[in-house]
Amino acid sequence: MNTIEIKPDIFWVGAVDWGIRDFHGYITQNGTTYNNYLIKDEQITLIDTVKHDFDMITLENIRSIVDPSQVKNIIINHIEPDHASALASVMRYMPRATIYITERGKKGLERYHDTSQWNIKIVKNGDPLNIGKHNLLFLETPMLHWPDSMVTYVKEAKLLISQDAFGQHLASAARFDDDFLASNSQHELDDAVVDYYANILMPFGKLIKTKIDDIVKLGLEIDMIAPDHGIIWRKNPGRIMQMYLDMAGGKAKNSVAIIYDTMWHSTELMTVPLVSGIQDEGVDCTVIKLRSTPMSFAIKEFWKARGCLIGVPTMNNIMFPSVAEFLYHLAGLRPKDRIMGAFGSFGWGGGAVKEAYEKFKQMGLSTVEPGVQSLYKPSVADEKQCYEFGKQFAVKMKEYDAQF
Ligand code: FEO
Repeated sequence: MNTIEIKPDIFWVGAVDWGIRDFHGYITQNGTTYNNYLIKDEQITLIDTVKHDFDMITLENIRSIVDPSQVKNIIINHIEPDHASALASVMRYMPRATIYITERGKKGLERYHDTSQWNIKIVKNGDPLNIGKHNLLFLETPMLHWPDSMVTYVKEAKLLISQDAFGQHLASAARFDDDFLASNSQHELDDAVVDYYANILMPFGKLIKTKIDDIVKLGLEIDMIAPDHGIIWRKNPGRIMQMYLDMAGGKAKNSVAIIYDTMWHSTELMTVPLVSGIQDEGVDCTVIKLRSTPMSFAIKEFWKARGCLIGVPTMNNIMFPSVAEFLYHLAGLRPKDRIMGAFGSFGWGGGAVKEAYEKFKQMGLSTVEPGVQSLYKPSVADEKQCYEFGKQFAVKMKEYDAQF
C-alpha cells in the first residue's frame, strides 16, 4: 500500500515505474510514474488507471482505501495504454462501475478492450458530474495529445487532473513538487518538464495555448495540478502553466545545439571550430553525437536551443542514416521558431548538406545558408570556414531570437 491523500478525500493510487528506460522509443533515463486518483465520496470515483504491468499495485492501493466493488465511476481521461491498459483488470473488481469517457475515447477503448459488458457514458466538453460533495467538470483536450484526451477538474478541491499535460517521466519517492525540490534542484525538475514537452507535446503548441486560455476564461480556480506522470504541482501550479505557455509561444534559450554524426571523424572535427566561432560571439552551445545519444535526448536539446546546426556526412550520395532518422523524427514533431544550419564531410559527390537544408525548409524552419562542407578530413581552410560559419550562425541566431 502506497497511497497519498493529495486533497481531503482525494488519493493518489498510482504506481512508480522505477525501471522503465524505453517508453515506446522515448528513452526514460529517470523512469516514470503512472498517476491515477481516487475520490472518496458518495459516489466513489476513480480517475484513470495505470499501465497493465501495475494493475495489481493500483488495485491494492484502491483496496487500502475502499472496497473496489463499491467504486461507482471510472473516468478515463486518456486511453493510451500507459493509463488505460489496466482497465480490464480493474473492471473485474468493479464490474458495475460506469466509465465516463469522450466519444473518441470510447471508439479507441473498444479497440483495446472487450467493452461489451461495460457501462460506458460519453461525456462532452463542459459536462459536469456531481458525485456527492464534489463536482467534476470534464474538459475535452482533443489532440493533447491523442484525439480522445480530456482533463477533469474537481471544483471543491480546486484540483485539475490533467492527464498527460504538465507531466514528466520522473520516477521519485516524492509525489509533490515541494517534496521533490527538498532534495533535488529546480533545474532537474524543469529539465524533466522540457524533456517531456519536447518529445510528446512539441507538435501541439498552438492547441496548448488555446486550451490554457480556455481554462483561464472559464475562471477555474486551480491550486493543484495532478498529471498522470511524475510530480504533482501543489507548490506553484501557476509556474508550470507559465512554462507551458512560454514553450508553446516559442520561448527558447539564446543558444545553439550542434547535433551531428560522423563516419571517420571528419564531420566531428568540423564541430571544433564551429563551437569556437559560436562561443566567440558570446553564445552558449551544446554538442550531441547522435549514435552516442538517445534520440529523445537530442530532441530535448534541439528544443531548448534557438538555433541548431546539423552535422551530416554524405554516404551513398545521401544523408548519413542516423542524421536522416533524426530529421525524419523531428519533422513529425512539427518544430517551430528555430533557425537551422548544416555542415558535413563528403568523399566524392556530396549532397547530404543540401538534402538537410531541403528538409529544414520542408519543416518550415528558418535557415542560415549555405552551410559548410569538407572534402574528407577538414583542411586548415575548411576549419577556418567552419569557424566563420559558426560566428555567422550565432549572429543570425541572435537576430532571429530578438523577435521572441
Ligand atoms: Fe501517458 Fe499519452 O500517455
